[in-house]
Amino acid sequence: MYINFWYPAALSEELKDEPIRARILGQNFVVFRDSKGQAHTLSDTCPHRGGALSAGVIRDDCIQCPYHGWRYDGEGYCRRIPSLGKDAKIPKRARVDAYPTQEQNGIVFTFLGDLEEKKRPPIMPIKELEDPESWRANWITYEADINFERSIENGLDAAHNEFVHPTHGHEGADEDYQVNYLDFVDNMFGEKKWGFGFWHAFKSPASTKEGPQIKEASDERMAGSGIVGPNQMWTYIVFNENSEFRQYMFECPVEQDHVKIFLVNMRKMMLDENMDQAIADRCMAIAKQDIAILEKLNPVLTPASNTKEFLVPADEPCIRYRKLLDGWKKKGWKINSKKVDANNGKKAYAIPSPGRNKQKGWVLDKIPLS
Ligand code: FES
Repeated sequence: MYINFWYPAALSEELKDEPIRARILGQNFVVFRDSKGQAHTLSDTCPHRGGALSAGVIRDDCIQCPYHGWRYDGEGYCRRIPSLGKDAKIPKRARVDAYPTQEQNGIVFTFLGDLEEKKRPPIMPIKELEDPESWRANWITYEADINFERSIENGLDAAHNEFVHPTHGHEGADEDYQVNYLDFVDNMFGEKKWGFGFWHAFKSPASTKEGPQIKEASDERMAGSGIVGPNQMWTYIVFNENSEFRQYMFECPVEQDHVKIFLVNMRKMMLDENMDQAIADRCMAIAKQDIAILEKLNPVLTPASNTKEFLVPADEPCIRYRKLLDGWKKKGWKINSKKVDANNGKKAYAIPSPGRNKQKGWVLDKIPLS
């Protein structure tokens, strides 16, 4: 799991006037809104004596710890220590890490890391949301006991559809099946260093399964996929000029072996809202087909070396993804989960926030990095 990327913490509609506890990268966070509606994310651990801020309440645009009532504002500064008295000076060190928080695409994203603003990667924009005449959206979230890298690799894997998703195509029965040429393209949503994509043509017979038939048979349908950072992925399927499905996936690594997935599905067809539920059901049925495979992968995590799997040309997108991950590891952004797990229950850590670049002497240690 990697620091210095944007992670989905909650759907915007879920964040109302109560704080929410979000578990991301194996750490706890509190997410809350101030009176202006601005969302904030703080480390969940109170530096006084370890209270869980997410179990507290919002008072005067601050989150109030449920244990002794210390209050922290959206920047993580402590504004009140009741036991010291009303006019007491608040020590600078009584501060929690606060993370840049941005609402986009109907999702609250938090940037977990200490990179300055101009060096941060992008959040995939969904421009189709601005054109509701042509595109209809639905949001789906679900959790699964899978590693997020394995999940992203699955989305980048053109070869699995034929066998894992009988709802999509030949149902594994076409003897002439093969993966066509993968046409790689640069990252569509920002600088090259943050991602890439690819397009390929595939044969697509009409489905024989029940449920909404969102396509007609085609001998050459185009599909594209790509990534932005370690946890954002887009998938486009072009049915014809006027009919298209685009899925934007934002993954939240809850633990190394557990993920929460936020999907924003955009469709340029079947725009009637009465179709929403049937299409959401179909998307979940497809997700469950993937989960059934991914939960049984051995090992759970991607191997440290590609030589420990026998990779073929259709796995090229996975190889490129792993290269990017390796580059981010070399920058020192990979969490040393072994060390964190060894201290589980004995030591509280914090993901370093941008505030650490300007102030020293934080109560919680920075999470160990590889
Ligand atoms: Fe939070 Fe004491 S533990 S105020």
